[in-house]
Amino acid sequence: MGLLKVGFQNQCLHFLRQSSKVSTSTSFWVQNLINNTTRHLALSYTPRSKPAIAKALSTEAAAKVQPAKMVKAIRVHELGGPEVLKWEDVELGEPKEGEIRIKNKAVGLNFIDVYFRKGVYKAATMPFTPGMEAVGEVTAVGPGLTGRKVGDMVAYAGNPMGAYAEEQILPADKVVPVPPSVDPIIAASIMLKGMTAQFLVRRCFKVESGHTVLVHAAAGGVGSLLCQWANALGATVIGTVSTKEKAAQAKEDGCHHVIIYKEEDFVARVSEITSGKGVEVVYDSVGKDTFQGSLACLKPRGYMVSFGQSSGTPEPVPLPALGAKSLFLARPSLMQYTSTRDELLETAGEVFANIASGILRARVNHKYPLSQAAQAHEDLENRRTSGSVVLLP
Ligand SMILES: NC(=O)c1ccc[n+]([C@@H]2O[C@H](COP(=O)([O-])OP(=O)(O)OC[C@H]3O[C@@H](n4cnc5c(N)ncnc54)[C@H](OP(=O)(O)O)[C@@H]3O)[C@@H](O)[C@H]2O)c1
Repeated sequence: MGLLKVGFQNQCLHFLRQSSKVSTSTSFWVQNLINNTTRHLALSYTPRSKPAIAKALSTEAAAKVQPAKMVKAIRVHELGGPEVLKWEDVELGEPKEGEIRIKNKAVGLNFIDVYFRKGVYKAATMPFTPGMEAVGEVTAVGPGLTGRKVGDMVAYAGNPMGAYAEEQILPADKVVPVPPSVDPIIAASIMLKGMTAQFLVRRCFKVESGHTVLVHAAAGGVGSLLCQWANALGATVIGTVSTKEKAAQAKEDGCHHVIIYKEEDFVARVSEITSGKGVEVVYDSVGKDTFQGSLACLKPRGYMVSFGQSSGTPEPVPLPALGAKSLFLARPSLMQYTSTRDELLETAGEVFANIASGILRARVNHKYPLSQAAQAHEDLENRRTSGSVVLLP
């Protein structure tokens, strides 16, 4: 079974690698050379042929200067609440060298989009188009690019921002091919969140059989996948959620114990569940409201993995607070765990393999038209969502 899984993952990785060799081909330069040479020859014809040639060339030039392509996108002109998300026409250029254009099939909604909209994280430009996760069909490739072709289904997660659009331009080396067995909407619901779960349980802190892990917001987009993955690795999983409905989902996703932290003291409950020993690791994406309690839940030499701040940024931690139990504190980000092409392919490969083999179940619990991204943001921020949320252009 284990061998089969490894074999399957290798197949997935091989698929991603084979379909991922993107580069600028020499044929582009050859083609340019041919074009320039033809133009040079044409211009050295006899005076009588010159007007006709000039006309042909100006027609060619006019054909090349096409009106800019307009697409619909969500734009943010000022920071603020969900109401600052405006549905507008934007100009889309042609892909340049090393780039592709994709027509988005589904866009993933992530809490990071809320941070950028509010200004918790600073966008590089203003106005800007939010969004860091999408799956789409390649509609154009930049000059000379090989390894990508029109019609390919690809996914991306992370930088550059700009996924809340009908179409977008992306660096070709930031996308990975979507295996044909994975539906584009499913892929958009697990690309960023699944890769986050991957680096959290497999690399930031390596979860092993026998560990006890605490996952806050266990029914959320990342939380759901994190619990399933930690369970599959053999850990005892304790999840926190705000409602009974979310508790039922967290149970289905492999939580052995679920704590409704709006009603119960989660520190006391974790102590009870672990007979006072504490847990090896806490995955805390809630931040301000849970941070101190999370430290209290750890066993000596435990790992505090603070990877988000849905309730606000936690207070600074004085170093002696870690010393009492020799704790480790990490504040990791997906970007640093997928910064090389190989890391990106391996991380995405594992996620797609686990989806295809059923180890992970994607929960696309909410779909909104992309034009109604404001409503989706409002629901996410007000804790009305569970699992993944996708926006459909
Ligand atoms: N570091 C990284 O690389 C990385 C990558 C991806 C995501 N993240 C972080 O992971 C977290 C989860 O992201 P997600 O997109 O999957 O969102 P999500 O978990 O689906 O939504 C956030 C959840 O947080 C809980 N929460 C607790 N207090 C909250 C509050 N005051 N306001 C809003 N929500 C609150 C809610 O669950 P309950 O109702 O059950 O409490 C809510 O459903 C976010 O903090 C995000 O920044 C980090």
